[in-house]
Amino acid sequence: MPTKTAVLSEGKSKILHTTDDPNLLIQEFKDDATAFNGVKKGTIVGKGVFNQSISTSIFRLLEQAGIKTHLVEVLNDREQLVKRVDIVMVEFVVRNIAAGSLCRRYATEEGLKLERPMIEYFVKSDELGDPLIGREAIAILGLADYEILDLASELTMKVNEIMVAFWKTLGIDLVDFKLEFGRDNEGNLLLADEITPDGCRLWDTKTGEKLDKDRFRFDMGGVEESYARLQSLVTEAAGV
Ligand SMILES: Nc1ncnc2c1ncn2[C@@H]1O[C@H](COP(=O)(O)OP(=O)(O)OP(=O)(O)O)[C@@H](O)[C@H]1O
Ligand SMILES: [Mg+2]
Repeated sequence: MPTKTAVLSEGKSKILHTTDDPNLLIQEFKDDATAFNGVKKGTIVGKGVFNQSISTSIFRLLEQAGIKTHLVEVLNDREQLVKRVDIVMVEFVVRNIAAGSLCRRYATEEGLKLERPMIEYFVKSDELGDPLIGREAIAILGLADYEILDLASELTMKVNEIMVAFWKTLGIDLVDFKLEFGRDNEGNLLLADEITPDGCRLWDTKTGEKLDKDRFRFDMGGVEESYARLQSLVTEAAGV
């Protein structure tokens, strides 16, 4: 079993540790929560445990559908062993229903059901505030070539299809979410990072209640309870 050797990086919600195997990392989920590009900071008690569990269940579900991910195995309730990848410095956001920055940018009404799912690309850069970017700029500025961009976009749409159907069985609408991809040492493109309520908008289909990190962003209360509820729903339904 690989053991931790050093802290590779500490981000806003996770710590990455190197291990004695150069191709494997340990991804540790923290309780820290941030919003609005780190302007708002706080703690969601137990979030690291809930998110590790939720992300594992969803990644396993995706693996079963043939999507390659970085997840190797769960080590404990906050830590996963993952394959080390070179992260593509682009965030892939899928939107099914209008919310968040899309509404601010285009004065679109929140809750508008989009005619079909759409992808938006953002530069992974806290310094720049993760700005929206177009395909041409991604390729020309060298963030990713068209081949990677197309493959990652195709995978993103496939993940969306699987996830929309999955959340629907739980009575939850998947409004939007963010994915990150990276290439492993053999050049395979893997889904990396996490899929959790930190990076997904999830609304109760019947009541419209927001169940994700927006509860923290907008001080809506019941944040821990909501994450706990999502975790128990997901682990039970995924059965993995
Ligand atoms: N398998 C992997 N190999 C290498 N890096 C990874 C892997 N999975 C995720 N990462 C990176 O590890 C970091 C996880 O930490 P965290 O999510 O806390 O970062 P963050 O503060 O959100 O910063 P970022 O804006 O870079 O995502 C991210 O930078 C993510 O891109
Ligand atoms: Mg992150």
